Amino acid sequence: MNNQANDSVLKFWDERASLGDLAGTNDFVLTGIEQSYLLDTIPRGSRVLDIGCGNGSSLIKLVDQKGCTGVGIDFSEEMVKLAKQASQSQGLGERVEWHRRGVPPVPNEWAQFDVAYSQRCLINLASAEQQKEAVLSVKDTLNSGGIYIMIECFMEGAEETNLLRRRLGLQAMDAPWHNLFFHLHEVKSWSTPSFYMEKVVHVSSTYHLLSRVVNAKLAADSGEALRYDSAINLLAAQLPQEIGEFGPVKACIWRKT
Ligand SMILES: C[S@@+](CC[C@H](N)C(=O)[O-])C[C@H]1O[C@@H](n2cnc3c(N)ncnc32)[C@H](O)[C@@H]1O
Repeated sequence: MNNQANDSVLKFWDERASLGDLAGTNDFVLTGIEQSYLLDTIPRGSRVLDIGCGNGSSLIKLVDQKGCTGVGIDFSEEMVKLAKQASQSQGLGERVEWHRRGVPPVPNEWAQFDVAYSQRCLINLASAEQQKEAVLSVKDTLNSGGIYIMIECFMEGAEETNLLRRRLGLQAMDAPWHNLFFHLHEVKSWSTPSFYMEKVVHVSSTYHLLSRVVNAKLAADSGEALRYDSAINLLAAQLPQEIGEFGPVKACIWRKT
């Protein structure tokens, strides 16, 4: 990323740090779905690296509820400060470290991890080259057999949703100004024999179908403002998420051999 672009993205995230549950995205229901997936998937007691940890809410849940230990990194000093405060105030400070670090590459200066994950962090990088460097560098942070849970945004799922939106007369949704969505087929091709994408989970497909298509259409027709906490969205979050392949957010599971 050139320095100016990087500065604007950093400023954006620094300014969001104080937003509590909304710091990572205004769509707190989506954050909850991603966190449930991480809590269900990551084995108890794992040593975990959170890439782009924000205010630490995901890693703190893993430490608190799954007995994990780990490290959270983020390029925003404000986010790191709040993550540290939150873990200390919950008495978890000894089991987790927070560091201000930018990617790429993902730093490998700590003892290796069983699991690394990112939640919509690498879409903030300005080019596919930087994104590729970041993804492939995760390998060096992992134990052999370790996994990287890449929860990021992909064009394919965004297009799948936009197809239905257009059908109902709604405008297509574009990536926000500070995001560059990945292309699934391209990312898959970055696999090597020693670090490869094992599977793709459509981690919030049902939620995106119901919130971004059905609820969006009902709100447009009734003239009501769209709300992330609408009844349909809250119900959608309780359903199995792999109905279809909707929504940009996917969890790609990478394994180090
Ligand atoms: C969408 S937020 C997600 C935060 C948190 N993981 C969550 O889900 O609540 C993305 C995070 O990535 C961080 N980030 C963006 N670009 C980064 C970079 N190049 N290096 C490190 N962190 C970055 C931002 O500061 C922000 O906290």
